[in-house]
Amino acid sequence: MSITSTSLKYRNTFSLAVKAADLIVVDRIELMLKVWQQTQNRKMPLLVLGEGSNVLLLEDFSGTVMINQLKGIHIREELYAWHVHVSSGENWHNLVCHTLKIGIAGLENLALIPGLVGSAPIQNIGAYGIELKNVCEYVDLLDLFTGAIDRIPVAECGFGYRESIFKHQFQTGYIIVALGLCLKKKWQPMLEYGSLSQLDPAIVTPNLIFHFVCSLRRKKIPDPHNIGNAGSFFKNPLVSAAKFSSLISKYSSMPHYPQANGQVKLSAGWLIDQYELNKYRVGGAAVYRNQALILVNENNATSKDVVDLARYIRNSVASRFDIWLEPEVRFIGAMGELNAIEVLSCKNGQVQ
Ligand code: FAD
Ligand code: EPU
Repeated sequence: MSITSTSLKYRNTFSLAVKAADLIVVDRIELMLKVWQQTQNRKMPLLVLGEGSNVLLLEDFSGTVMINQLKGIHIREELYAWHVHVSSGENWHNLVCHTLKIGIAGLENLALIPGLVGSAPIQNIGAYGIELKNVCEYVDLLDLFTGAIDRIPVAECGFGYRESIFKHQFQTGYIIVALGLCLKKKWQPMLEYGSLSQLDPAIVTPNLIFHFVCSLRRKKIPDPHNIGNAGSFFKNPLVSAAKFSSLISKYSSMPHYPQANGQVKLSAGWLIDQYELNKYRVGGAAVYRNQALILVNENNATSKDVVDLARYIRNSVASRFDIWLEPEVRFIGAMGELNAIEVLSCKNGQVQ
């Protein structure tokens, strides 16, 4: 166990200059339990952090930030599939590259998503037509109160669009320590999303899809090493069929994606784009020029700049479309996670 630094600026991809009372890097489960016990004894909050690519740190954290570095990848071959057991502190994109390099396909559409393997089930990461739930077999969860590790089979993970039980009943007092993936040997390319459909299914390879996805992402999504951001700030909204039909009669070019349950998913980026906010700034925070769903720390933004910008966007979209966008990014206050909608709904957030 080593106490390294209290600055979190390089521990959150928004690059917000906030601090933690303590920061501890852990590479063993016993140490996780020890740190938890210490924070319990001192009545201090604990925040488990991966790469900080899906958090908005609102202020200095009053407790201990635990950086997960549990490592290890174990692969078991069966007749029809590869079973990959990965420790939660491995980097997600490195896992995608590693599996492809040794000839195991199935993760190529999920290339270049920042963050750790252990964070992937929390919001059921998804991109370019695939979600984690399509390849997940189980999640190993450490119960900090008992020290037991429970294996949660995929069917019990409550996976949905940016959803899982790890955001709800298993949010506090639990740490994801490993992930099990099942990658079928009979590979099927997933080419349904957007321009992936240009690729010829007869000759496409997993590596070709990997490079195609990486190149698409590099064009649209800013690299947090160059400009601070946390990916999509809001989720794409799901609306009822009735609400959708009234909207499409007014906005015929509105992108829309019908869902199996009759709801329709809309593009939050398109809704925000209708305001042409690319020149709008709050302090150092701005809407990214190539993707309106991504808020960026353009010039030493404070957490408040980002919150004020998000609130302005959310109120603007609601006033025109009567749709209240929900943040995808997790809002973290001094004592732990806060309700992001409540933070954005506070009084001074009225549309000017
Ligand atoms: P963190 O931000 O460190 O943590 C997120 C939350 O999980 C926090 O509440 C934290 O306390 C909790 N947590 C972290 N590790 C554990 C653990 N082991 N056990 C329990 N709780 C834990 N997401 C997508 O789905 N699709 C995309 O295409 C995508 N693109 C992105 C592009 C960019 C440029 C960026 C910056 C982000 C993008 N994201 C995307 C969001 C992000 O990459 C994912 O949500 C990722 O899984 C977060 O991983 P992380 O390790 O950084 O999590
Ligand atoms: N669009 C606009 N303007 C914009 C952005 C998007 O009009 O500024 C419209 C376009 O019609 C575009 C469509 O929305 O074709 C979809 O855009 P894009 O393919 O960029 O996807 P997205 O819906 O904005 C989602 C995920 C991303 C994921 C991509 C690719 C959410 C909240 N975001 O973005 O995930 O990488 O699809 O699958 O679901 C993340 O979660 O952090 C993230 C980056």
